[in-house]
Amino acid sequence: MCGIIGYSGHRPAIPAIVEGLHRLEYRGYDSAGVAFQYGDALRVIRAEGKLGALDQKIAGLDIASSVCGIGHTRWATHGLPVERNAHPHMDPGNGFALVHNGIIENYAELKADLVAHGHSFRSETDTEVLVHLIAQGAEQTDNVLQAIHWALQRVEGTYAFALISREHPGKIWASRKASPLLLGLGLGEHFIASDIPAFLPYTRDVVFLDNDEIVEIDAHSWQVFDAATLEPKSKEVRHISWDVQAAQKDGYKHFMLKEIFEQPKVIRDCLAGRIREGQVSLPEAENLDMPQRLTIVACGTSFHAGLWAKYLLESWARIPVQVEIASEFRYRDTVFLPGDLVLTISQSGETADTLAAIRIARDAGVPILGLCNVVGSSIARESDHVIYTQAGPEISVASTKAMCSQMIVLVLLTLYWCQRKNMLTRDELAARLDQLTSVPSILESALPALRDQAQNLCLDYADARSFFFLGRGLYFPLALEGALKLKEISYIHAEGYAAGEMKHGPIALVDAHFPTFALAVHDELLPKVASNLQEVQARGGRIIALMNASAPLTVTSPWILPDVWGAFKSFMVLPAVQLFAYEMAVYLGKDVDQPRNLAKSVTVE
Ligand code: F6R
Repeated sequence: MCGIIGYSGHRPAIPAIVEGLHRLEYRGYDSAGVAFQYGDALRVIRAEGKLGALDQKIAGLDIASSVCGIGHTRWATHGLPVERNAHPHMDPGNGFALVHNGIIENYAELKADLVAHGHSFRSETDTEVLVHLIAQGAEQTDNVLQAIHWALQRVEGTYAFALISREHPGKIWASRKASPLLLGLGLGEHFIASDIPAFLPYTRDVVFLDNDEIVEIDAHSWQVFDAATLEPKSKEVRHISWDVQAAQKDGYKHFMLKEIFEQPKVIRDCLAGRIREGQVSLPEAENLDMPQRLTIVACGTSFHAGLWAKYLLESWARIPVQVEIASEFRYRDTVFLPGDLVLTISQSGETADTLAAIRIARDAGVPILGLCNVVGSSIARESDHVIYTQAGPEISVASTKAMCSQMIVLVLLTLYWCQRKNMLTRDELAARLDQLTSVPSILESALPALRDQAQNLCLDYADARSFFFLGRGLYFPLALEGALKLKEISYIHAEGYAAGEMKHGPIALVDAHFPTFALAVHDELLPKVASNLQEVQARGGRIIALMNASAPLTVTSPWILPDVWGAFKSFMVLPAVQLFAYEMAVYLGKDVDQPRNLAKSVTVE
């Protein structure tokens, strides 16, 4: 939620900042702005709407001499998405400009206090309070670090911010609490950003800032301080293996399509080095005791991956599993038991509710295993053990390849625990791993035809205003995911349902205008799903059904998938529902990579 960037170096700052904002636009896109030193003053340029509007405002301005500045792309939390609420915000004396990601929770009382001291405000944002407060701190000291320290002692909530000062050209200060922030170290130039792709064309040397740290940079130096004591801290510099190409569209029309088509590679990357001589090798899990019970906590698509894995973990590894939505889990008084393990799943590693769940488990003394895509993210750092899902940067707001990678790692983890519990013979385990390693090439060959079929179906179903997605067993969570994908990018209402639950109420909605998308692959539950679909057909409902040639059903629109072994059929079903949503959104002319009202990384509650 919101992308921030700061640059201090030798090149014109604004083009580098705006380019970085384009790479962060997935984090929010309702308004954007930049601030930079301009002569003796700070100058702010902001625009409502997507970044293109800011690009237009900046085009033709004579600002090339500015080599230091900050930028922001916004996902509104407080105040309408209009220009006056866009970041950067300034203090009343225009001495500071600040960009912020997060929520200042006590902003109302801070604002009342500032107003009582004569401050007037130009926006409705919580952020403006923060820059006023820093300016108030600076009235007592001309040391900006001290002023930030003073302000942060008064602030409650979450933040990652970057600040420039009129009196200190070339310098940027930044700090974080529960919102992501990193430092990029180039030659004669330094960056601050919410995410790595922002500065990827310039450097892959990264410092991950921790909570309650402040960093001060200029073109040639950087120093991290403890926010509470202002003692300097030493930090590790990490070299990131992502390349620029991985963060670009690579000839695809949308990131979402590119990421769907990347899934065979993602599976290979996830498996690489983790299967050795017919056994699973997961050093990350070696020091974990066998869990007596597993609580999986996640949000959205990652939650669906957890729900899917429950079926495998219970039936293959015989581990009791509960799967929780993080925003519910964090406010329930969960009962933990000896032998519990909390498993969190998150692509971004920054989802606020999932992070809160980790803290609850930690306070209860329960070990935490994090499954995460973004290296060095907060969830990765706050978990006791981390398994990276190796999906590479996921830019499209709608998550696709990340779920695929999570499912692969969850299969590996399940098989790893089977291995430790001797639940499978060596031959059975080796055979299952063989079946898993054959998935990427089958999927690679299947993807173009899956896309064609999705395109064709859109012509017949684009008039539908609502869809049911039905499945049973492993395919119930994938039905939830299919419905989520369709609604978030095509804005067609869709409900994922356990097929057997339809007759307990929802079937009342079925008629010729309310189609059903069935996940009816050939498994032991197929006869049950087939009966449920007959009930739908009997009420005039049209049906698209994903199925296998070995067990065809008679439905309105059959969609035959390549046959793969058992549970791994899921890796054909997942891209099919993703492509259906994608093609529908394209057909309906929606903004696929940046759907309305959403942002990629949900760092607020
Ligand atoms: C849907 C989607 C979201 C995320 C959710 C969790 O396409 O992307 O539902 O899955 O916000 O995000 P992470 O996995 O980053 O914790």
